[in-house]
Amino acid sequence: MAKRKKKNRIAADVSPSLPPVQPGLLSPTRRVPADIARPPYAITGDPGPSISSLTRTPDELAAMQRTGAAAAEILLRAGEMVRPGVTTDKIDEFVHQACIAAGGYPSPLNYRSYPKSVCTSVNEVICHGIPDSRPLADGDIINIDVTLYMHGVHGDTSTTFLVGDVDEPSFRLVKETARSLDLGISAVHPGGAVNEIGKAIETHARQHRLGVVREFIGHGVGTEFHSNLQIPHYYERRLTTRLELGTTFTIEPMLTLGAPEAALWDDDWTAVTIDGTRTAQFEHTLVVGDSGAERLTVTPAGECAHDLIASMVG
Ligand code: MF3
Ligand code: CO
Ligand code: CO
Repeated sequence: MAKRKKKNRIAADVSPSLPPVQPGLLSPTRRVPADIARPPYAITGDPGPSISSLTRTPDELAAMQRTGAAAAEILLRAGEMVRPGVTTDKIDEFVHQACIAAGGYPSPLNYRSYPKSVCTSVNEVICHGIPDSRPLADGDIINIDVTLYMHGVHGDTSTTFLVGDVDEPSFRLVKETARSLDLGISAVHPGGAVNEIGKAIETHARQHRLGVVREFIGHGVGTEFHSNLQIPHYYERRLTTRLELGTTFTIEPMLTLGAPEAALWDDDWTAVTIDGTRTAQFEHTLVVGDSGAERLTVTPAGECAHDLIASMVG
């Protein structure tokens, strides 16, 4: 007897309500005025090996506060553009111009030959989505990841925004991913082990039956976009590296409704879930202070897109 064909059912709570994201067309490369200070990789695309300290001098920290605040402001403004019909390229155009208007350089542009000024990751795209001609659709979720280089340092921050009416599983995913970043931040204390961060995030993800992406992790950030410090969002027993006062780094958990395994598109950047289920991400740049991690990617008034979305979905 022929084997009965089993329908490949996707569990109801991970069912994608829209067709898969497809690559669109890229607009021409955007220019940065000659008077804007560029990071070293801007010309060649090669950041080279990391040589920077993991901790910041007082002057560098002051610079990171200013750059982080400007990045937070740009992300808030970019989030206001999110609605059905807007292309991710339009968001790139805005972020590019806003970085220049602030007096900075959009860090992604030509970083390891990345072609655009921001990352826009829709639905099942985990991270590093390249802005293109695809218009946002009602029901999408989109992570916008802004990194600004100014005053000699980078500020790196991202938030997942809702496009129109999203389904219940996506709403829940965004809510718990935002919360997982808060919990990761709360796990930081001076002299604490790096693996306490991933432990807090992974525990929360498990409680909510969400996956944790392992292929992409948080990182040291400062005078370099990505320094040698690695911040996994899952528990790694051996990772007992201590976080010293003045260390600057990101936490940027990517959680998934289904399996967290990633595949890359042919563009060698766009990372998607293999099973096609949705994924969300939130990111802040942080410094280890006396009483724990302080968020650098907030406006002078203490606002950020992460808190804004958390209050909407909470
Ligand atoms: N902003 C991303 C991060 O959080 C890195 C983007 S690299 C790029 O680390 F080249 F894609 F921009
Ligand atoms: Co980052
Ligand atoms: Co980022």
